Amino acid sequence: MTEPEWWKTAVVYQVYPRSFADSDGDGIGDLRGVRQKLDHLVDLGIDVVWLSPIYASPHDDNGYDISDYQAIDPLFGTLEDFDELVAELHRRGLKLMMDLVVNHTSDEHPWFVESASSRDSAKRDWYWWRDPKPDGAAPNNWGSFFSGPVWELDERTGQYYLHLFSKKQPDLNWENPEVRAAVYEMMRWWLDRGVDGFRMDVINFISKDPALPDGVQDPVSGLGDGFPHFGSGPRIHEFLQEMHREVFENRDAALVTVGEMPGVTTEQARLYTDPARREVDMVFQFEHVGLDHGPGGKFTRRALDLAELKHSFARWQEALADVGWNSLYWNNHDQPRVVSRFGNDREHWYESATALATLLHLMRGTPYVYQGEELGMTNAPFSAVDDLRDIESLNYYNATVAVDEETPIDVLARVAVGSRDNARTPVQWDDSPGAGFTDGRPWIAVNPNASWLNARAQEGDDRSVLAWYRRLIALRHEEPLLRDGRFELLLPSDPRLWVYTRTAERRQLLVAGNCSDGPVTVPEDLLGEWADAAVVLANAPGRERLTASLGPWEVAVLERSVPVT
Ligand code: GLC
Repeated sequence: MTEPEWWKTAVVYQVYPRSFADSDGDGIGDLRGVRQKLDHLVDLGIDVVWLSPIYASPHDDNGYDISDYQAIDPLFGTLEDFDELVAELHRRGLKLMMDLVVNHTSDEHPWFVESASSRDSAKRDWYWWRDPKPDGAAPNNWGSFFSGPVWELDERTGQYYLHLFSKKQPDLNWENPEVRAAVYEMMRWWLDRGVDGFRMDVINFISKDPALPDGVQDPVSGLGDGFPHFGSGPRIHEFLQEMHREVFENRDAALVTVGEMPGVTTEQARLYTDPARREVDMVFQFEHVGLDHGPGGKFTRRALDLAELKHSFARWQEALADVGWNSLYWNNHDQPRVVSRFGNDREHWYESATALATLLHLMRGTPYVYQGEELGMTNAPFSAVDDLRDIESLNYYNATVAVDEETPIDVLARVAVGSRDNARTPVQWDDSPGAGFTDGRPWIAVNPNASWLNARAQEGDDRSVLAWYRRLIALRHEEPLLRDGRFELLLPSDPRLWVYTRTAERRQLLVAGNCSDGPVTVPEDLLGEWADAAVVLANAPGRERLTASLGPWEVAVLERSVPVT
């Protein structure tokens, strides 16, 4: 029998299939490619694979625009390939978590095609259709996540439809019970096929205030902020509880559910993840990955303040300490690579990749590793707009270049740093021209540093980022204190040291990292308390005890006994 809350000691690995491994040479990763690389995942020690969307899709947003929830996109393979992958994962003791994208469909989904066919269509109300304002303008002022308004006018029927993301991603109307029933049926179909859970895409956006009121206007774009009217909207908890009843109840307890929830607060997250409420097991929150965003969002960056980052994590640790559960992540397919973003991918590449990994993985929650993160993969050197593929980056670039006074080169420089494409370059398996990802022409260029930064080069090297992730993941499984031990942040305002403890009865771990490019002196009090403690993990050669100084991006984990309290 699997433990009911088995995911509390698990580590999840995210596969973005398009960029993981290409088995047929068309330059796009596929399901057989994933299957061929399972040894890598087993050796890493992870427990769950989260597979980004592999469903039929026109790929306006790389599969997050689904045109058939129950078919595999031919780019990725067939249902048979999928079943084989599930069987193989299970044979090796791994679980599979699917991506569930049900805030919206593709505009090529038959549901939307039918809905758009006429004002009287039986599925008209499955999406958000509204009349133009008397002057022909859009029904409200909301701006979309991918630039421009959320409304698209359908000339044929004379009404606008709502899309929070691209105009090829119309939002489903969850107010309509038929929509909800159809989604639940589809989810049951995948569970019956053997999948072990879902990561639910922007699931806190599914309940909208049906009045769709205007949002506060942004002075630069002129668009309004709709978030207060669709972020954790009026019926969200009701919908998630209904989903739980209709889909998950009375099934094997070994399932896992994760809600991706941009803008979620700690108070809301407690509600979403309180086991007694039966909504989701954990949420993905975005506070820590927003701290280097400037006033204009992800493409206007500001320097990270380490104290703010530590404070943010500590707040989440504390808020979900007695009820609920955190997801812990640096990277996914939407975020620039962490070693480039918060670390130093030049002089201190190994040290900062391993330090950041350690500081994250030893907190309370379920750690996520995004493909290539376990190799210390870095951001890409995008130097031309043609290097980019991501709709969010391209839409922003085009919209900004069209209105701004900035030169296209300057806009490109900003977009390149914040682009989701940084996470989407092919996984670097070896130093061959296609990086071992493909024998063909990759859909997005391989990062040139694959010549030295690749899995083959790290395999067998004890002092590699890969070896470090294996150790961290093993520690997560072996050290019970990491699951439930109390979290305490030390030196909260120190701008360079990130230090915390995890405490259970009789034992305590100290995680101490220097998040700067120079040596840092360890405060005497801390040193006094921990000087005799044994090192459990350290990324500097020869470290056996805590001493007066930590080198650039050095991290050390120490253990000691504490009196029973
Ligand atoms: C989520 C996905 C992102 C996608 C968006 C719309 O944030 O992670 O990749 O573009 O939702 O589906």
